[in-house]
Amino acid sequence: MSFVCLADFKAHAREQLAKSSWDFIEGAADGGITYEDNIAAFRRIRLRPRYLRDVSMVDTRTTIQGQEIQAPICISPTAFHSIAWPDGERSTARAAQEANICYVTSTYASCPLEDIVAAAPRGLRWFQLYVQSDWELNKQLIRRVEALGFKALVITVDVPVGAKRRQDIRNQLNLVANLMRMDLRSPEERSSTLPAPTSLPSTSFCWNDLSSIQSITRLPIILKGILTKEDAELAVKHNVQGIIVSNHGGRQLDEVPASIDALTEVVAAVKGRVEVYMDGGVRTGNDVLKALALGAKCIFLGRPILWGLTYKGEHGVREVLNILKAEFHTSMALSGCRSVAEISPDLIRFSRL
Ligand code: FNR
Ligand code: LAC
Repeated sequence: MSFVCLADFKAHAREQLAKSSWDFIEGAADGGITYEDNIAAFRRIRLRPRYLRDVSMVDTRTTIQGQEIQAPICISPTAFHSIAWPDGERSTARAAQEANICYVTSTYASCPLEDIVAAAPRGLRWFQLYVQSDWELNKQLIRRVEALGFKALVITVDVPVGAKRRQDIRNQLNLVANLMRMDLRSPEERSSTLPAPTSLPSTSFCWNDLSSIQSITRLPIILKGILTKEDAELAVKHNVQGIIVSNHGGRQLDEVPASIDALTEVVAAVKGRVEVYMDGGVRTGNDVLKALALGAKCIFLGRPILWGLTYKGEHGVREVLNILKAEFHTSMALSGCRSVAEISPDLIRFSRL
């Protein structure tokens, strides 16, 4: 079987996975309006290519937070990779290291962080934190990820509470509820005689508490899930180093804008003061091109990574990343961009608005 685009991996995963696993990965909140719009919004955007430029050399490399990556295509945090492949996050980390891009590991990884790092010690890794109500545990976790060489903390802001996912309820799947009760201590800490801390994610974490995190760590802080200019302003004011415009793949509050539509508002508010990234609905090279033209420094992939894992573990993820990078390379050449620095808003036809 030869897969030529990301949709091929999706079709395969749908056939391969148990229904409840497929439904969890695909899962959207409520009526799935935002979930659908994440894809549809990209399809509504038209491009303005420039020709007769020498595109014999096209360079997809860029940087995030000062670190070079091979292409502006990185991996969003998603929970519990062993649902898709037995080796779980270890395989994802190996593929990301090989591709020389950034892998954001979820708080709810199914392998110990120590094992993920051992599998790919040279890879660029960021850690996604669901801030816990137990501050001792936050401290422990942050110390641990610093010691393990994670280079940034991605704080997800759009899950003050879990959303309603109809399909998971119908399937009586309690995975998210179980994940939220996961013991987040290191294997070493777990073997101590102390009882497990109550590790529920915080429902009260707010802007003022960001400084408590900043007093614990000097790692750059990236807020994931920002959708408005007001919150983008607050993020900059609170000295974060980056923003991921995201609606959690349509899995949290339904009927918010598609990520690609919210991106413009956030980029305009931030005015270049911090890096802005996006995730949600990126499936083709043209999607990556559009996101960069609208001001994203880099995009992140959620579900497509899980489809790749389902197909062939590490090699499946590599294929997903290679195919998207090759498409992006072609999109750049066909639109007259030799480097990511040449991807500008002029590429977008705004008359659609
Ligand atoms: C997620 N997402 C997510 N986000 C996060 O911050 N922490 C997490 O643990 C998870 N877990 C998770 C599990 C699954 C199965 C999915 C599909 C998503 C959201 C994820 O990081 C990202 O925002 C979206 O998946 C991006 O949209 P696409 O690429 O899936 O369309
Ligand atoms: C999800 C949680 C784990 O989206 O973030 O399933």
